[in-house]
Amino acid sequence: MPVSTEPRTMIDFIEAQRGRIEVVLKKVLHHRETWPQALTDAAAHSLFAGGKRLRPVLALTVVEMLGRDYVKYENLFAALECIHTYSLIHDDLPAMDNDELRRGSPTCHKKFGEAAAILAGDGLLTLAFELLSEDSFVKNFQPEHVVQCIRHVSVAAGFSGMVGGQYYDIHGTGGARDEKQLLKIHAMKTARLLSASVAAPAVLSGVHEIILAKLVEYGDAIGLAFQICDDILNVVGSKENMGKPVGSDDGRETLTYPKVVGLDKSAAKARELCEQAKKAMEAFPAEKRQPFDLLAEFIIERVK
Ligand code: IPE
Ligand code: IPE
Ligand code: MG
Ligand code: MG
Repeated sequence: MPVSTEPRTMIDFIEAQRGRIEVVLKKVLHHRETWPQALTDAAAHSLFAGGKRLRPVLALTVVEMLGRDYVKYENLFAALECIHTYSLIHDDLPAMDNDELRRGSPTCHKKFGEAAAILAGDGLLTLAFELLSEDSFVKNFQPEHVVQCIRHVSVAAGFSGMVGGQYYDIHGTGGARDEKQLLKIHAMKTARLLSASVAAPAVLSGVHEIILAKLVEYGDAIGLAFQICDDILNVVGSKENMGKPVGSDDGRETLTYPKVVGLDKSAAKARELCEQAKKAMEAFPAEKRQPFDLLAEFIIERVK
C-alpha cells in the first residue's frame, strides 16, 4: 500500500539514478536539423516535463550490476524513455483516456493539438529504433545481441505488449471481467515494457540464459506490481504528487485492481509481487541485488 514516508535510502538511490538518466536524455535527445521544430517542441514538452524515468533507471541498474560501462548503453536508456513517453502521449488522447494533465503539465494534445500529439508520439516511437540501430551504439556490442535486444524491446512495445494491452484496456478482452483478465491486460500494457527494460540491457551484454530468466522473472513481477499501484494511486493518491488526474478510473469502463478485488487485496497483491521479485534476485550476491530490492520496494511504496 503506498504510504507517504518513503525510506530515505530508497529515495536517494532512485533520485541519483534518475539524475544520471536526465543527463543522458538531454545529451541524446535534442532537436536535429531535419526535424520540424514544432513537432520537436511537442515531443520535448512531454519528454522533459518530468517523469520518474523508471524504465531507463531499471536498465541502468542492470548495466551496473553487470559491471559494464553505462555510457555504451545510453541510446538504449533514451530509447526506452522515448517509447514510454510516446505511450503516455497517445494514452492521453481524446480517443483513449482523454486526459488533460500529465507529468504536472498540460497533455501534449492540449498544448499542441491532436495532430501534433499523434505525430510526436509516432516520432518518439520511431526514434527509439533509430537510436537502437545507430552506428555509435551498435559498435559497442555483438551484432546478434543488438538484434535480440531490438526484438525484446519491439515485442514488449507492440501488439503482444503495450499496444495490445492498451487495446484490451479500452475494449476489454472479450473474456470475463475478472482478476485473470485484468492480470493479462496489466501484464501487456505495462509489465512487458518494464520487464524489457530489465531484460534488454542483459541481452545486449550477452548474459547467460539463466541470468536472463531471473531478471525477466523480476521484471515481470515488478511490472505487474507497478500497474496495480498505479490503479491504487488513482484512488488514494493526490493529483499534486502524481502530476496527472486521480479518481479518473471511476467513471471509466476500464478494469482496475481496486475495482475488481478492492483496495486492501490490491495492496496485498502488490506486496506479494514485490516479494516475488526480490525472491527472483536471490540468485545474485547480496550487494548486487540490493538496488533491485530498493527499486521493488519503491514501486509499491511510491506516492507518485
Ligand atoms: C505511467 O507510467 C503509466 C503507466 C504505465 C502506469 P509512469 O508512472 O512510469 O509515468 P512517468 O514516466 O513517471 O510519468
Ligand atoms: C497507461 O495506463 C499505460 C500505458 C501503457 C500508457 P493508464 O492509462 O492506466 O495510466 P495513466 O494513469 O494514464 O498514467
Ligand atoms: Mg490508459
Ligand atoms: Mg491513462
